[in-house]
Amino acid sequence: MTALLTTDVQLAAELLRAGKLVAFATETVYGLGGNALDPAAVAKIFEAKQRPTFDPLIVHLAAASDLSRVAQDVPDVAYQLIERFWPGPLTLVLPKQPCVPDLVTSGLPSVAVRVPSHPMAQELIRRAGVPIAAPSANPFGRISPTTAQHVLDLLADDIDAVLDGGPSQVGVESTVLLCQPDNTVQLLRPGGLTLEEIEAVVGPVAGRAQTVLDQHVPQASPGLLAQHYAPRTPLRIVEHWEDAPVGDTVGVLSLGPLASASRYDAVEILSETGELTEATAHFFSALRRLDASGVELILAQRFPDVGLGRALNDRLQRASSR
Ligand code: TXA
Ligand code: MG
Repeated sequence: MTALLTTDVQLAAELLRAGKLVAFATETVYGLGGNALDPAAVAKIFEAKQRPTFDPLIVHLAAASDLSRVAQDVPDVAYQLIERFWPGPLTLVLPKQPCVPDLVTSGLPSVAVRVPSHPMAQELIRRAGVPIAAPSANPFGRISPTTAQHVLDLLADDIDAVLDGGPSQVGVESTVLLCQPDNTVQLLRPGGLTLEEIEAVVGPVAGRAQTVLDQHVPQASPGLLAQHYAPRTPLRIVEHWEDAPVGDTVGVLSLGPLASASRYDAVEILSETGELTEATAHFFSALRRLDASGVELILAQRFPDVGLGRALNDRLQRASSR
């Protein structure tokens, strides 16, 4: 099988209805979609990604008004967040409806739900007529795709189609929040919606649990896996660019322009003005180019730990862990 590359939303929706796998653009990253209510389709997602089944999937809806199809006992705090931030890069973990297969939630009593803001994604889900389970469209643990071509490079032989909606605008995955019955929320994964924006609506948010290093222990949330989003080339986080070891060919992933650029074998500048929104949009593509450039080592510096910088530092940390 070689995946069909298309911009035909109706065709893609029909494939989903027929239990096929369709990767599609969202504003965060490309997702690998299947009918969330069809355990056979969901099983194919896990197979295509070679993803362990203890790692639950996000269910995507066309509109917030569909929420009761997959979630129940939704706490007030979730409605506050939904009103302000959906559609958009925010995933809420809520008590699940019985119709959501255990495979989607890895047997957890909760389901992760979001409404993407990309118009093509909304149209696709609306026309499919079913909730769509979609992890990022990359093999487990590798760099997330932000273009249709990235998906083809990674999964062309394992899926049925890719719906091309252009490059993802945000560039990192959604922020994942656990909403508790007592109306407190906990951050499970930093992402495309900043903690600052969330706290402006719901007040202080509890941090997430410690990173779990043992990948074989069932996870409260697989966003907690230590290694993820990883290039094949070793990646090291340095304080100063000069900390590069002598002898290796080195690629550099930099937030803004750097004076010593000529010293390195490959350089990726994420934003000429050092701006975090632009840097986030370019992050995974730049990492992918460095990985393909043939360097022996990728160097990166931590981003400012504010706003989207938190999501980038999280991805960087896990890309460097092996
Ligand atoms: O932006 C995104 O969220 C993208 C696009 C395609 O929507 N999707 C995505 O899916 O990143 P994935 O499978 O790569 O990440 C799923 C995340 C994991 O970090 C996991 O922690 C969390 O969702 N998750 C899913 N179900 C959960 C549950 N029942 N309880 C806790 N966390 C859950
Ligand atoms: Mg992923």
